[in-house]
Amino acid sequence: MKLLIRGGRVVDPGRAVDRVMDVLIDGDRIGLNGTPDRVVDAGGMLVVPGLIDLHTHLREPGFEYKEDIASGTRAAARGGYTTILAMANTQPVIDNRAAVEWVLNAGKARGVVRLLTVGAVSKGQKGEELAELGDMIEGGAAAFSDDGNPVSSGELMRCALLYARMGDKPVIAHCEDRSLAGEGLMNLGYWSTILGLRGMPWVAETAMVARDLMLAELTGGRLHLAHLSCARSVEMVKEAKARGVRVTAEVTPHHLLLTDEAVNTYRFDTDTRVNPPLRGEADVEALLQGVRDGTIDAIATDHAPHHLDDKEVEYAYALPGIVGLETTVGLVMSRLVDTGRLALGTAIRALTAGPAQVLGLDRGTLAPGSPADVTVIDPAREWTCDPSRFASKGRNTPFKGWQLRGQAVLTVAGGEVVHEGIA
Ligand code: DOR
Repeated sequence: MKLLIRGGRVVDPGRAVDRVMDVLIDGDRIGLNGTPDRVVDAGGMLVVPGLIDLHTHLREPGFEYKEDIASGTRAAARGGYTTILAMANTQPVIDNRAAVEWVLNAGKARGVVRLLTVGAVSKGQKGEELAELGDMIEGGAAAFSDDGNPVSSGELMRCALLYARMGDKPVIAHCEDRSLAGEGLMNLGYWSTILGLRGMPWVAETAMVARDLMLAELTGGRLHLAHLSCARSVEMVKEAKARGVRVTAEVTPHHLLLTDEAVNTYRFDTDTRVNPPLRGEADVEALLQGVRDGTIDAIATDHAPHHLDDKEVEYAYALPGIVGLETTVGLVMSRLVDTGRLALGTAIRALTAGPAQVLGLDRGTLAPGSPADVTVIDPAREWTCDPSRFASKGRNTPFKGWQLRGQAVLTVAGGEVVHEGIA
């Protein structure tokens, strides 16, 4: 099928393109010319490479009551994502080749968008014994991570970086020193004191970032830092990049938009409970600056759906996590781009070419010949964040009720229209 997306503002940061032009989809590739079977008028719309999420918890197998491959990839399509990377903290954990192949096959069978998977660093994500990384690379694992848990053993992390390097895959680090994070429920600071909630200090993150940067330097392995939340982390990544350490980093929309004051503003709403926790103003500013200057390569959702039963409990008993696949475009467009805090091209880069580079994918661009992954965003569409309308089974977002502007109106993954309009 040939689909012509006509007259949109094409923003393709990987090629420094930002101008009104047509995009032709020819089968599963971006085409150059030919007579289209269908024409979509994209006047006034943004036409961007299909968004890529480096951090999605799909919960299948094991926690299908929270999310499954079908619902999670449907949510992705509605949010404008054409490729998502599933995390390995399922039940059982994705820690061997058969499990990796199972996820990839399930993605092909039931997934709406392209599904990639992480393989665990350690068997059962127990942090004790290295999983069979080489075997998982052969099975198609795109990266390795014990996300949800840190890799507390430095020696295990060193080995993971070395083994992953053989397949040129990144190790995605969930940086948390558990001895410092303790039983913390939110950022340690003014608000944790006022609210009387146990806090976790920012050093719980930065201590681990420092260790992992040095292990990346030692091994020459590729390190990707998940969900950075503190100013000092950004500073260290910048310095390490300048010295040639092979490191990339991501930040979530919630860490760019909220501070720990939200726990007070939303009166202990457990949807503000997330790991790493929401931090302070200076952290938010440093994270934004990190996206602007390229220290942070990607905005990733850390889509972490939980059941109502996991959230409608006292703050201390709530599981951490925020859903993000269906809110990220609206949040980034209305609260970061429209407000002048991020340039449009920078924001789109962090959602497309940036994450593609982290994984070494030939995606995240609209260059002719590239895979036909395209997202059309209506930057003027106003909508209210209403979790009851999500395709995701997860409803846990602190952004519920927010008035947003900007929404994906057409998502094409591998040449197939996987989302059109709003349901
Ligand atoms: O808030 C979080 N939720 N942080 C994580 O690292 C894990 C995630 C989850 O799996 O729910």
